[in-house]
Amino acid sequence: MMRILVVGGGGREHALCWKIRSSPKCSKLYCAPGNGGISQVAELVNIKADDIDALVKFAKDNKIDLTVVGPEVPLTSGIVDLFQKNNLRIFGPSKDLARIEGSKVFAKELMKRFDVPTADFAVFDNIDKALSYLDTRKAPIVIKADGLCAGKGVVVAKTISEAKIAITDMMVGRVFGAAADRIIIEDCLAGEEASIIVISDGNTAVPLASSQDHKRIFNGDKGPNTGGMGAYSPAPVVTEALLKQVMDEVIDPVIKGLAKEGKKYVGALYAGIMVTASGPKVLEFNARFGDPETQAIMPRLKSDLVDVVEAAIDGKLAGYNLEWDKRFCVSVALVAGGYPGDYLKGMEIKGLDKVRAMKDVVVFHAGTRAGTRKADTQDTFITTGGRVLNVTALGSNIKGAIELCYDAVRSISFDKMHYRTDIGYRALKK
Ligand code: AMP
Ligand code: GLY
Repeated sequence: MMRILVVGGGGREHALCWKIRSSPKCSKLYCAPGNGGISQVAELVNIKADDIDALVKFAKDNKIDLTVVGPEVPLTSGIVDLFQKNNLRIFGPSKDLARIEGSKVFAKELMKRFDVPTADFAVFDNIDKALSYLDTRKAPIVIKADGLCAGKGVVVAKTISEAKIAITDMMVGRVFGAAADRIIIEDCLAGEEASIIVISDGNTAVPLASSQDHKRIFNGDKGPNTGGMGAYSPAPVVTEALLKQVMDEVIDPVIKGLAKEGKKYVGALYAGIMVTASGPKVLEFNARFGDPETQAIMPRLKSDLVDVVEAAIDGKLAGYNLEWDKRFCVSVALVAGGYPGDYLKGMEIKGLDKVRAMKDVVVFHAGTRAGTRKADTQDTFITTGGRVLNVTALGSNIKGAIELCYDAVRSISFDKMHYRTDIGYRALKK
């Protein structure tokens, strides 16, 4: 029996905790810092996800047998190296390999080295060279800051002058600080996006079910980018043949290529894929589980998550098979009005009791905290963030899952609540 710690406090971590809690191997579950919903399945630890020194101390003091990391910042800060140095078991890539997410230049160069299909690109640390290179290119064109920018470091520019403004903002305006000391200018790819997340032991990778995110704030993929307004799994655009192609042309070359260089990538590896007319191409890698994809994937996973995570850490994934619920899963994000710009916090969430009684529905919390308990409800929750809840439903087909999910969504309310009403529309069209 194991004492397990999950690091993070969003919807992804609620989904991970919810799944881990059901493992026969888990005797005690902690989450740092967690949120209101997570407090119902794990004991919350008041340590921020990026305070890796405090986390290692907590894990030692509390005899934690296994730590699972949600967000990218602790990974790129070296939480895995620090835990291992202290003889603590942890699931995730080393600081060196987390650069696959932490540095887009590192990721692009790695893809070039291992012949992984991706958009053609050039790297610049000098604005004059970047601007004159742009004069030789055609729009639309994509500008990317090298470092972590909380999902905001990519500009898909419709015109060359828009691209020049983006580069000037990054390199002169320094809107992303040192994260844009280097930038990438890359060709714009057309197609449908999908997320392929695998679990890797350093030699072998086992894919999770496919999924698709919805990044823009408004219906029809309009408006600014967000941390994710909803997801569904599986993604019909990822046929069996396409998944095999992604495993053969993207995932295996990366994992095996790194292994040949003496570097074992252990952890979740997320490939953001554009399915183009000439096959799948990589848009980005993340060194972790996706958010909100994980919220739509975990309810479909029948196998024990703790078991596969342990197999990955122990290098025993060869021949490992994950079992999946065949049904569709849809997850809709309920966000605070104004998000991803300024928004209010502290609103009381209503209707969660009603949804708790619904079969095949689960609500994963993102920005919430537990409020004071009232006599007429089981629990009270207060909003603390922009993304508040991920309402998630299973259905025997995509239409059924969407309908059930929005039935649940309509039961929940808080002041100035916003959500997209078209999550899953691409799958529905197919
Ligand atoms: P990234 O952080 O690299 O995934 O970029 C965020 C989003 O920007 C992606 O999900 C795509 O929608 C878009 N994007 C990134 N690179 C490209 C590209 N080369 N062509 C078209 N869209 C892109
Ligand atoms: N859903 C995109 C991400 O996790 O970065």
